[in-house]
Amino acid sequence: MLRIENLKKTFPIGQGKVQALQGVSFVVSEGEFFSLLGPSGSGKSTALRCVAGLERPESGEIFIDGMCVYSSATGVSVPPDERPIGMVFQSYAIWPHQDVFQNVAFPLLYGSKGPRPSKAQIRESVLEALRLVQMEAYHDRPSTQLSGGQQQRVALARALVRKPKVLLLDEPLSNLDAKLREEMRVELKELTRSLGITSFFVTHDQLEALAMSERIGVIMEGKLVEIGEPHAVYTHTQNQRVATFLGAANTLPGRVTQVTPQATLETPLGALSVRGANGIGLDENTWVAIRPEAIMCSRHPEALPNTYAGKVTRAIFLGSFVDGEVQIREHTLRVNLNPYDDFGLGDDIYIHIPAERCQIVS
Ligand SMILES: Nc1ncnc2c1ncn2[C@@H]1O[C@H](COP(=O)(O)OP(=O)(O)OP(=O)(O)O)[C@@H](O)[C@H]1O
Ligand SMILES: [Mg+2]
Repeated sequence: MLRIENLKKTFPIGQGKVQALQGVSFVVSEGEFFSLLGPSGSGKSTALRCVAGLERPESGEIFIDGMCVYSSATGVSVPPDERPIGMVFQSYAIWPHQDVFQNVAFPLLYGSKGPRPSKAQIRESVLEALRLVQMEAYHDRPSTQLSGGQQQRVALARALVRKPKVLLLDEPLSNLDAKLREEMRVELKELTRSLGITSFFVTHDQLEALAMSERIGVIMEGKLVEIGEPHAVYTHTQNQRVATFLGAANTLPGRVTQVTPQATLETPLGALSVRGANGIGLDENTWVAIRPEAIMCSRHPEALPNTYAGKVTRAIFLGSFVDGEVQIREHTLRVNLNPYDDFGLGDDIYIHIPAERCQIVS
C-alpha cells in the first residue's frame, strides 16, 4: 500500500549539511499500522513529510496504493493535495478562527482538484468524519473551546474526511497528558483497525510504538536499523543501540569459548550460555543484551546453567516491581525484583538467566 525505496534527504545547515534520510526503504501493507520509532532528530518526521509531499527528497521512490507519487529517476512528484493521504500533526494545526465543522471541511473545499463537492455532500462527509471520532455533537463549536484531546479528534476527523488510502500520523499524542494519551492510543488503534486504513505513525515513544503497531521500524541517524513485529524487535533486538533505546537492557561483552551444541561466552559474570548465536565463530568478541525482566532472581541457588551468586546493591520500589541492581563479581546487572520477595540492600541473591533470553547484538 505504501512503498518507500531508498529515500535520501539532505538539509543544508550553515556551511555544512545534515543527512536526515540516508537510504530508507520499507513497505507498509494494506490495513497495517506501521510505526517509525527513533530518537529526536533521527529523521522520522522527514520520512513522513516526504510521503506527504511536504518535503522533496533528493533521491528514491514513493508509491501509495500502487501509484508513484515521487521518483527521482522519472522526475514524478505529485503535489501534496493530490496524494491520497490524510495527515495529523503533533501540534494539531486546528484553525482557531474557524469552528469544528469548517476545520474538518477544509480539505474538501481547498484540498482536491476537480469539481467542488456540493454543500450537502460536504455536510455529509464532515458529519461522518466527526461521527468516527465521536465529535459530531461539537460540529458548531468554536475551535477555541475545545480541550487538547478534542482538538486532536478534530484533527483526526479532518485527516479522514477525504477517505485517504494512507493515514500519516506525526506524534499525534505527544501533547496530551499521560492518561488521555493512553486512552487515545487505544481509541486511535481501534479506529484505524475498524476503518481498515493503512497507517504510518511516527513517534519517539517506545511504549506507544510497541503498544499500537503491527510492525515497527527503528530509525537512527537517518538509517532504518531494525524492522519487525513489536515482540520480536523487543526480545530479539539485533543492534545494541536499539536494545537500549527500546527499554532497559544490560549489555555484556563476551568472548566465544564454545559454539556447539550451544554457544558459550566468557563474560564478566563468568561463562554464559546463549541460544541462537548462529554464525558466530570461536574466539570471536561480541556483545550480549539481557533485559532486566529476563533475569530470574531467588534467595536460593538452583542447579541451572547461567546461575550466578551476587549481592543486591540497589532496590528502588516502583510498585509493580523493584528496580534492582545486583553485583556479580566486578559487574553490576540491572534486574527487576519481585516486591513480595522483599530483597534489601546487601542481601545475598542468586540470579538465573535463561539462555534463550540472551541476545547477541552487534
Ligand atoms: N527544514 C529543515 N532544515 C534543516 N534541517 C532540518 C529540517 N528539517 C529537519 N532537519 C534536520 O534533519 C534531521 C531529522 O529531522 P526530523 O525532524 O526528521 O527528526 P525527527 O526524528 O522527527 O525528530 P523529533 O523526534 O525531534 O521530531 C535533524 O537533524 C533536523 O535538525
Ligand atoms: Mg519529528
